Amino acid sequence: MAVGNEGKVQSVLKRVLDDIKPSQSEIVAANAVSNDIMGRLKRAVPKNVEIILAGSVARGTQISGNSDIDIFLLFPRSMDKGEMERKGMAVARKIVKKGKGERFVIKYAEHPYLQLVFKNPPVKADIVPAYKIRDSFEMGSSVDRTQLHNEFVLKHLTQRQKDDVRLLKAFMKFHNVYGAEAEREGFSGYLCELLIHHYGSFVSLLLAFSNLKLPLCIDAKNKEIVKDPEAFKRFGSEFVVIDPTDSERNVAAVVSETALARMVLMSRKFLLNPTEKFFYGAEFSDERSSGKLKRIAREMGVDIYFLTFMVPDISRDIIFQQLRRLCARLEKSLGDNSFGPVLSLYNMDGKDAVIAFFVNRYAIASVARAGPEVFMKGACEAFTKQRKTTYIRGYKIISIDKAQYRNPAELLRHEVKGDVPSHLSSAKLSLNSVPERHAKLVYRKYVEATTI
Ligand code: CTP
Ligand code: MG
Repeated sequence: MAVGNEGKVQSVLKRVLDDIKPSQSEIVAANAVSNDIMGRLKRAVPKNVEIILAGSVARGTQISGNSDIDIFLLFPRSMDKGEMERKGMAVARKIVKKGKGERFVIKYAEHPYLQLVFKNPPVKADIVPAYKIRDSFEMGSSVDRTQLHNEFVLKHLTQRQKDDVRLLKAFMKFHNVYGAEAEREGFSGYLCELLIHHYGSFVSLLLAFSNLKLPLCIDAKNKEIVKDPEAFKRFGSEFVVIDPTDSERNVAAVVSETALARMVLMSRKFLLNPTEKFFYGAEFSDERSSGKLKRIAREMGVDIYFLTFMVPDISRDIIFQQLRRLCARLEKSLGDNSFGPVLSLYNMDGKDAVIAFFVNRYAIASVARAGPEVFMKGACEAFTKQRKTTYIRGYKIISIDKAQYRNPAELLRHEVKGDVPSHLSSAKLSLNSVPERHAKLVYRKYVEATTI
C-alpha cells in the first residue's frame, strides 16, 4: 500500500467490521425467516417454478441491521409475461400469515413484486417473479439478471472480499452515496461487489478512487481497464462498469457525477486520516432546523426561497426524479434571469416535498441579453429593431432589456404556475421561513451537501 499508515487503516477497518458484520444470531434469525418463506413458497408454486434466495443475504455481503431478504420465483421462459406476473403475485399473496401480524405491500420496479413485512424479527422480504435464464440473451426483463449476479458473486468473491464489500457499503452509506435509487443516484450493492472484485480489496479500491481519472471503463469480468473510446460512446458515460453477466449493461449507469466525486474526495480523506468517523458517528442535531437555516442565510447574506409540496403516496423514486427535474429547471431559469442560486437543495419525506434555493439578496430592473453575432445580417437586424438600447460586445449585439422578473419570487411564482411534473403541482412559495418539518428536510440536505 502506498499510504504510510497501513497498520492504522487495518485496525480501523477491523473495528468497523466487527460492528457492521451481522452477528451469528442475526444470520441465524434471517436464515430462519428465509427458510420459512421459501418452504411456504415451495408448497404454493407449481413444480416448474424454481425458488432462489438472491441479493446480499444470499451472497454474504449484507450489513448488520439490514438483513432484508430477496427471494426470486423463477418461471419457465416459455410462459407469457402477464401470466408469470399474475401467478407470481397470487402465490406470494397466498403465503402471507395475517394472523401473525404479517402484511404485504405491492411494489413496482420494471414489473410488480411483493414485499412481505414481518413483525418479529422485523425483516422485509421482497418476492420477485422473474424468468429462469442461463444467459443474458434469454433475458425478458432486467430483474432476470439477478440470478446471474448471484452466481457471479458467489463464484468469484472470497470471504475476505465479501467483508470488504460490507465495509464499502457502510462507508458509502455514511457518505450518502450507497443505493441506486433516485434519491441517492449512488452505487448499488451489486456495483460494490463488482468494484471489490476488480480492485481486490477495500483499501486498493480507496487508493484507486483517490487517484481516479475519467474516462474509466472497467471490464469486471476480466478485471481489466478498457481503453477503447468506443466503449464510452456506446454507454454514453465516462464512468462505466460492464456487467460480467451482460456486456450490454453499464452497472454504474445511475451513479451521478456528484456521488462519484464524493467517493473520490472521501477516499482521499480517509487514507490521509483513517478513523472510524468515516463510517459512523459525527451525528448532527436537526432540532430547530428552521432557526438554523435562518442563521445560515443571515451569515451568507442570502435569502432562502422554499417551494413546498404535498405529494401522493407513491414510489419515492418517482417523486425524487420529479424533484430533481424541477429543481434543475428552476435553477437554470433563475440563472438565466440573473438570480443564479449559490446552492439548491431538494428533499422529501412522506407527504412532504421541498425545494430550496439560496439566492443573494438583490432586486434587479434590467438584464443584458446576448443577441446574434454581427455577421448574421438578418438575425442582427431583427434583433436590434425590436430593442431600445443595444451595444456591441465582442462580435455580439447585446441588448439591455427591462427585467422580466425583478426578484426570484416573481420568477418562481410564475414558473410553478406553468408546466410542472405531475406530482408537484401544489407548490407553495415561502421566503426564509417554513414549518419545522420542511425546514428539517432542507437542513438535513444542507448538512449532507456541505459535509465534504
Ligand atoms: N439489482 C440490480 N440493480 C438494481 C437493484 C437491484 O441489478 N438497481 C439486483 C442485484 O442483483 C441485487 C439484487 O437485485 O443484488 C437485490 O437488490 P438490493 O436488495 O437492492 O441489493 P443487495 O445487493 O441485496 O444489497 P443490500 O445489502 O443493500 O440489500
Ligand atoms: Mg437486498
